[in-house]
Amino acid sequence: MTPDAKKKAAAQAALDYVESGWVIGVGTGSTANHFIDGLAKIKGKLDGAVASSNATAERLKRIGIPVLDLNATGDLPLYVDGADEATKHLYLIKGGGGALTREKIIAAASQKFVCIADDSKLVGVLGKFPLPVEVIPMARSLVARKIVELGGQPELRPNFKTDNGNLILDVHNLSILNPVELEAKLDHLAGVVTNGLFARRPADVLLLGGDQGVRTLT
Ligand code: 5RP
Repeated sequence: MTPDAKKKAAAQAALDYVESGWVIGVGTGSTANHFIDGLAKIKGKLDGAVASSNATAERLKRIGIPVLDLNATGDLPLYVDGADEATKHLYLIKGGGGALTREKIIAAASQKFVCIADDSKLVGVLGKFPLPVEVIPMARSLVARKIVELGGQPELRPNFKTDNGNLILDVHNLSILNPVELEAKLDHLAGVVTNGLFARRPADVLLLGGDQGVRTLT
């Protein structure tokens, strides 16, 4: 099975979590796109969706799902999104697509976060995938220096601006043994908007597409 077929299988499995009359949160990336393609077939079920990026909003609108503002919806029953890395404790690194801030907001507002991924994303220790950190442009160098002090090697994501008008530092060489602690440390640096660790609010369900089908971790 190709990695893309595994992503698609995980995305299909997430459709079972969608209930009639709901407004749900929808994430960003190739796995989330498979989920949106699946939603196209059951779109009558949904009252709308909150999108974690402009790209996802466009894709949802194209298939006729109303895109709503989180300020108008209140809490959501369900959020479905991919990840760059995941552990068996359902801690995640996200933000490979640069949508980490809106993703973290939607995750915080959702009762259930179902993460969908191919099985290559499951790791023992987070950090091989460079950890994305969204920064206010004027704080780029300051935050980079502080991250070096924390033992990371930050690299400015080239030619990239987030949907919020900010920059991304991708932090290499981290072996993240305590994701809850590092998430808080990075969030406390002046100029950091969000970092891509989802540990304080991890996923509730991880659906992993693999050669033997879709595995569910809770
Ligand atoms: C976007 C994300 C994505 O969920 C993550 O990058 C995984 O992407 P893909 O589904 O394409 O492998 O966090 O900001």
